[in-house]
Amino acid sequence: MIDPFGRSIDYLRVSVTDRCDFRCTYCMAEDMTFLPKRDLLSLEELDRLCTTFVEKGVRKLRLTGGEPLVRKNIMHLVRQLSRHLDSGALRELTLTTNGSQLARFAGELADCGVKRINVSLDTLDPVKFRTITRWGDLGRVMQGLDAAQAAGIAVKINAVALKGFNDAEIPDLMRWAHGRGMDLTVIETMPMGEIDADRTDQYLPLSLLRANLERQFTLTDIPYKTGGPARYVEVAETGGRLGFITPMTHNFCESCNRVRLTCTGTLYMCLGQEDAADLRAPLRASEGNELLSHAIDEAIGRKPKGHDFVIDRRTNRPSVSRHMSVTGG
Ligand code: GTP
Ligand code: 5AD
Ligand code: SF4
Repeated sequence: MIDPFGRSIDYLRVSVTDRCDFRCTYCMAEDMTFLPKRDLLSLEELDRLCTTFVEKGVRKLRLTGGEPLVRKNIMHLVRQLSRHLDSGALRELTLTTNGSQLARFAGELADCGVKRINVSLDTLDPVKFRTITRWGDLGRVMQGLDAAQAAGIAVKINAVALKGFNDAEIPDLMRWAHGRGMDLTVIETMPMGEIDADRTDQYLPLSLLRANLERQFTLTDIPYKTGGPARYVEVAETGGRLGFITPMTHNFCESCNRVRLTCTGTLYMCLGQEDAADLRAPLRASEGNELLSHAIDEAIGRKPKGHDFVIDRRTNRPSVSRHMSVTGG
């Protein structure tokens, strides 16, 4: 699939549920209204959609949420999708998770061919962890990480960099992640959805974080690529990899290769835009995939050049009104 700007789209992110057992302050409001269960696509429908994308050239499939592992019977979908790994059609099947259910699922994920997962973890302090997730239990996430690594799954830690909250802790988080053989990526917070936190106070341009790190560490840019937006450096002192995801200060849209599907069958062509295409109607309209395939082509044909994250200064509202949890980042 080639979009109007000549970019090849081979990465599909699928939000299998809008629900999550945490409420990270930069992602959700405390009091979220979730979709009624009847509005969700079934796991069979999600499989059909993903399979159509794979047939159309998707090579990397990432399940997200909300929290993907709280969707009922999620392993059934993972097992079904793993057939595309077996056939060689899919290069990577992976997840972005908060880690809370990993202790239970890590073994099965590894059995299904999941080789690498991303776990969101912003702090190693249990009290701060509870604050940022509103009630999350860091101990359970740690058990999940142990289980994933014991199952042979490589882990990348994602930390959203928040001024005054975890910026001072990033060196420790990095030493800890690298000490356990895990990559770390730091992320600039993106303004999406109405949340309770003050975004202007918390936003931290990663150039500042990098400059701070460079006082203590030797960072060397490396060409390591995962197909995601991070730019990586190698850290001489730890021997590990650190990634920077800088949507706000360094737009990586020119090399965008991805689109996002929600659990109701809506396709977002860009994380930072409101335009979307409904794939549920063509999915349900016929058992054959012709209509669906046509709807996907039409959607890719309107993929925008880049995101448009702004906050209205008067109302303090972000231009993208849906919460991050709708598409799972
Ligand atoms: P890798 O496969 O490990 O490279 O992962 P990834 O970066 O593709 O996925 P992950 O779910 O770990 O996302 C990390 C962060 O990058 C999240 O905050 C996402 O919202 C953000 N991100 C991923 N893709 C895009 C994108 O296309 N645009 C923007 N603005 N942010 C993105
Ligand atoms: N800005 C940047 N990243 C975010 N994430 C969730 N909300 C935001 C936001 N407002 C991250 C999570 C997770 C990834 C999928 O998206 O921490 O690691
Ligand atoms: Fe849940 Fe992830 Fe959003 Fe946190 S960032 S509330 S863990 S979906």
